[in-house]
Amino acid sequence: MAKDTLSITDNRTGKNYEIPIENDTIRAADLKQIKVKDDDFGMMSYDPAFGNTAACISRVTFIDGDNGILQYRGYPIEVLAEKSNFLEVSYLLLHGELPTKTEYDQWVHNIIHHTIVHENIKRFMDGFRYDAHPMGMLLGTVGALSTFYPEAKDIFNKEIRDIQVHRLIAKMPTMAAFAYRHSLGMPYVYPDNDLSYAGNFLNMLFKMTELKYKPNPAIERAIDILFILHADHEQNCSASAMRNVGSSLPDPYSATAAAIAALYGPLHGGANEGVLQMLKEIGSVKNIPEYIKKAKSGEFRLMGFGHRVYKSYDPRAKIIKEIAYDVFEVTGKNPLLDIALELEKIALEDEYFVKRKLYPNVDFYSGLIYQSMGIPLDMFTVLFAIGRTPGWLAQWIELLEDPERRIARPRQIYLGEMDRKYVPMSERGKKKKA
Ligand code: CMC
Repeated sequence: MAKDTLSITDNRTGKNYEIPIENDTIRAADLKQIKVKDDDFGMMSYDPAFGNTAACISRVTFIDGDNGILQYRGYPIEVLAEKSNFLEVSYLLLHGELPTKTEYDQWVHNIIHHTIVHENIKRFMDGFRYDAHPMGMLLGTVGALSTFYPEAKDIFNKEIRDIQVHRLIAKMPTMAAFAYRHSLGMPYVYPDNDLSYAGNFLNMLFKMTELKYKPNPAIERAIDILFILHADHEQNCSASAMRNVGSSLPDPYSATAAAIAALYGPLHGGANEGVLQMLKEIGSVKNIPEYIKKAKSGEFRLMGFGHRVYKSYDPRAKIIKEIAYDVFEVTGKNPLLDIALELEKIALEDEYFVKRKLYPNVDFYSGLIYQSMGIPLDMFTVLFAIGRTPGWLAQWIELLEDPERRIARPRQIYLGEMDRKYVPMSERGKKKKA
């Protein structure tokens, strides 16, 4: 009968080992028994960038990268984007189930009643330079929130933890919009709790002198869908940062600030900004072949292309491409769209991209939509952060409740020098006598 084990023969010693297999996985710690000498540390697995290492058991988000499938708590992303809204999806990610009407109303009430930030947060944000990048502002300000809510350290108290979850989801758009208004030197707009989550965000970004801001329904829905599409993506760089930092048990504001820092980079959430810069640089459809050539020679990366997990079309990119047209009906077509469409067409036919299974990812079309809405380039990743907040928090709570949780502490293979003699500075650089 087939056994759920892996037999290993160590050819250095001739010893055999039988290692249990669970969920198609072996435990790296089971390799430790493989030793040449009794006092050896034991065998480790080497996996830089965690290409094939599961760091946790999760029940939040499922991705099948070969078949372009993404599900939150078992619900396909396409269905959620069509039928749900961001706050309902946030509830789903955090609670594992869709809310009943009563649960939903209470949840929305809880979020809406935490949208305002302490006046000192406003002053804190004022302290940034006029040209501060809003991601830097968001990262610093979310970190600062930890000092406003010291009780948040009590992370195993569910009631206290829930309040921080509400606060983070609620205040993220407020801080994001304040960062934008700061860059314009314009007064901050306070939240309007009559509006939807997305509608209120647009209000805080764009309200001028009108008494009541009325978001365009198509734009409001597009923003809401974009938040849904960004809400979680299992163990990506920022979720891993959240879990890694979270494993030392700080308050959620500190862990979320770490996740925002991870998201900031151009290979992660910063790519949506990179796509627009790239499309502007390409400038015209006729220049595309030259850029494809550069990408193939390794001189240049096509931003918004490729993914560690998706080896087929990113399902989020498909939905975003569709909603782009709804937005362009209101805003007029983004002139860079033609370059993007042609770039995608050429790349998808080119052997280099086909062989490496490089397809457009979530960032490829989102920036075009944001730009058409009048949102500036350096705010794009900030919008990603707003959308990803419930996912980070769901991953963090799952970590806290995991019976196998311990502080994250990877191993290394040390290949450096050993037991060197300290040479006084006055003698360094002198040649040794023969
Ligand atoms: N343009 C050109 N070549 C690429 C690209 C690209 N965008 N992405 C990967 N490659 C090539 C890469 O050069 C390598 O080729 P070779 O095997 O000949 O050396 C091969 O494809 C595999 O690339 P990799 O860098 O080993 O792949 P990875 O899984 O480590 O990186 C990635 C994934 C997303 C960081 C990478 O595809 C990339 O840099 N893409 C551009 C940035 C981007 O769009 N990031 C957003 C990701 S989705 C949203 C998010 O997570 O935030």
